[in-house]
Amino acid sequence: MKLCYISTDYVFDGQSSRPYNEYDNTDPQSVYGKSKRAGELLLQSLCSSYFIVRTSWVYGKYGNNFVKTMLKLAQDRDSLKVVSDQVGAPTYTRDLALFLLNLIETEAYGIYHASNTGTCSWFEFAQAIFEERGDSNSTLALYDC
Ligand SMILES: NC(=O)c1ccc[n+]([C@@H]2O[C@H](COP(=O)([O-])OP(=O)(O)OC[C@H]3O[C@@H](n4cnc5c(N)ncnc54)[C@H](OP(=O)(O)O)[C@@H]3O)[C@@H](O)[C@H]2O)c1
Repeated sequence: MKLCYISTDYVFDGQSSRPYNEYDNTDPQSVYGKSKRAGELLLQSLCSSYFIVRTSWVYGKYGNNFVKTMLKLAQDRDSLKVVSDQVGAPTYTRDLALFLLNLIETEAYGIYHASNTGTCSWFEFAQAIFEERGDSNSTLALYDC
């Protein structure tokens, strides 16, 4: 039986200045990261036909996510502060879903890092969201902190 487990960049310590690869040592710092890493280890102990897919900063049409949060906050406020000292790789749900659908058809078992190309800070992500919305007349002020 094949098993596919969706994991997270939170299995790492977050201190690296370059993107993590599949061979880097894990060192989760939060309860969430530790529990996700525990899930990875459990999966590996249960079967050899596994896919562990670590993704990050997922956004899309459904569910709560950063894009929706920013757009909602912007409705109620004149200004927003967003942190710029955390960097990650935003990942579009549809791209991730297509990757997963293709992957699980194969027998290429193992650990995968699956995020969209490129990295940004949360502040840069927020900037891109409002640029994409194209509201040049907006009075919203966006600050990094
Ligand atoms: N969001 C991210 O940026 C991100 C990044 C990396 C990895 N991940 C991983 O991706 C997975 C999904 O995350 P998410 O952000 O999409 O979470 P989410 O929005 O909270 O969605 C979780 C989904 O799991 C279902 N669920 C929760 N407990 C369940 C249970 N006991 N039995 C059956 N279904 C249950 C929920 O169903 P209901 O809607 O009915 O409650 C919901 O559809 C997680 O494993 C997370 O670690 C997420």
